[in-house]
Amino acid sequence: MRTAVVYYSYSGNTHRVGQLIIGVLKSKGEDGIPVRIRPLKEEVSFIKQCRDAFMRKKPKIYRTMLDLKDYDRIILGSPVWAFNAAPAISTYLEECRSIEGKEAICFVTYGSGAGKDKTLKAMKEKLTERGAKVVAEVSFQQNEGLESCREKLEKIL
Ligand SMILES: Cc1cc2nc3c(=O)[nH]c(=O)nc-3n(C[C@H](O)[C@H](O)[C@H](O)COP(=O)(O)O)c2cc1C
Repeated sequence: MRTAVVYYSYSGNTHRVGQLIIGVLKSKGEDGIPVRIRPLKEEVSFIKQCRDAFMRKKPKIYRTMLDLKDYDRIILGSPVWAFNAAPAISTYLEECRSIEGKEAICFVTYGSGAGKDKTLKAMKEKLTERGAKVVAEVSFQQNEGLESCREKLEKIL
């Protein structure tokens, strides 16, 4: 099974989980391709990041790997920002193609945990609306140890 591991990461936590996913897939003899989504203009102000996430803004993103035709499965990851997915993830979910009928897993990384379930629910709903079949979801606290993360991933991958 070929898996696209698509994620946005501002400060590196979601990226680290993305890398771990690639490693776990590899240990099972599976191919995982990392796709780090980047907005054309990265917002650096915490307040504006929260505002944009809360308002479900969809910033322009670099047009990397929007077409998922070569993949059987998509694993989509976002940090929780103001109880929502990061804006770049909203853009990706709107603009990606060939996602219909594909298996999907979503994950979030978070700080306090406020809004993490809501964020996962919204990501699942959007993936389902786009025709993907969401089979699992998982969340990781920003300071969670590597072993704990790996255990969670091994249960669902
Ligand atoms: C703008 C912003 C808003 C955030 N809002 C939340 C939140 O609502 N709930 C929460 O649990 N964590 C929140 N966090 C913490 C991040 O979700 C957490 O640090 C995450 O792991 C960051 O991922 P990254 O390093 O991949 O960017 C927020 C962080 C930022 C920068």
